[in-house]
Amino acid sequence: MKFSNKISQMLQIEFPMIMAPMFLVSNEAMMKSGMHSGIMATFPSLNYRKEGELEQLIMSLNKYKNENKVKGNFGVNLIVQKTNPLYQKHLKVCTENKVPFYITSLGNPKEVILEAHAYGAKVFCDVTNIKHAEKCASLNCDGFIAVGQGAGGHAGPHPLHILIPSLINHFPHIPVIAAGGIASGQAMLSSLAAGAGGFSIGTRFIASHEATVSTDYKNAIVNAGMDNIVMTNRISGTPCSIINTPYAQKIGYNQSWFEKLLSKSSTVKKYFKMMVQVKGMKKLEDSIKPGNYHTLWCAGKSVEMIDKILGCEEIIANLKDEFKQSVTQLKSNLQSID
Ligand SMILES: Cc1cc2nc3c(=O)[nH]c(=O)nc-3n(C[C@H](O)[C@H](O)[C@H](O)COP(=O)(O)O)c2cc1C
Repeated sequence: MKFSNKISQMLQIEFPMIMAPMFLVSNEAMMKSGMHSGIMATFPSLNYRKEGELEQLIMSLNKYKNENKVKGNFGVNLIVQKTNPLYQKHLKVCTENKVPFYITSLGNPKEVILEAHAYGAKVFCDVTNIKHAEKCASLNCDGFIAVGQGAGGHAGPHPLHILIPSLINHFPHIPVIAAGGIASGQAMLSSLAAGAGGFSIGTRFIASHEATVSTDYKNAIVNAGMDNIVMTNRISGTPCSIINTPYAQKIGYNQSWFEKLLSKSSTVKKYFKMMVQVKGMKKLEDSIKPGNYHTLWCAGKSVEMIDKILGCEEIIANLKDEFKQSVTQLKSNLQSID
């Protein structure tokens, strides 16, 4: 199914859907399935931390895209924060290999935007509020990813149906993609009704055959409902949504008063945050291994809508079908409106 609009044209894809970047989950097989299905497939550069790995993957994806003349595209997510020690190195690898699309999260995206625009690549910035969107808009970003309540990972505090129209009111010329809680055709359609031009979907793809996480984690996504998702500050210091496993309950959801103090102190905060993030990454990394009972499994509220582990191409095909059905259903529901 094709759906051409401003976003799909700008990103050179057949359907305005993004397979969202997911730390420790996104991988090459998922990227290729997404590209093959005509969408934008993205991954966080931090999934490739060993020397040469990131470059090798980007070269492989560029080759796949050109040789197979796929209708989709790929992009890289860069954490543009001073606490990310690999940021400069990864940006260089990406720009040298002409990555076509970027999603920036946290921090200041200035360098990414300047360097990507120099060769015609597009940069969308993750935003959860108007203040951060103002910064990204002033730096000339190409679009926003509006990350709302219920998203997997660092969810925003606002409902999408407030955040999206508010972004459009403030920045009428900047396209918006909706992220958070989308795992059905109805949710995709409703984000368009709120003013978005496309949708970014993460949690749904964790329960995929291709994802490189333990079967326990995938089954937990299938079995969890929206009430099983909680926010915790214990992983990165920033609120992150996870499945409320016994281990998550045991360690609690908030930082201690001492940790809060250190994360505010002007002299040590940078180093403290860096340490929290490195430790958090290690905890997440251990969690995705089979048989680990220290489970910190990132996931959003859309687990409610997920009841099967499927291949990525099937997930995308199903979502496109559902979207089409939702459009038909809505048209019929609205028939009696003058
Ligand atoms: C397991 C997991 C890992 C994530 N890792 C990242 C990441 O590394 N960088 C990022 O910008 N967003 C990350 N996110 C957020 C997603 O990119 C996306 O915004 C979110 O998944 C959308 O909400 P949904 O999960 O409800 O579909 C992650 C989300 C999940 C579920």
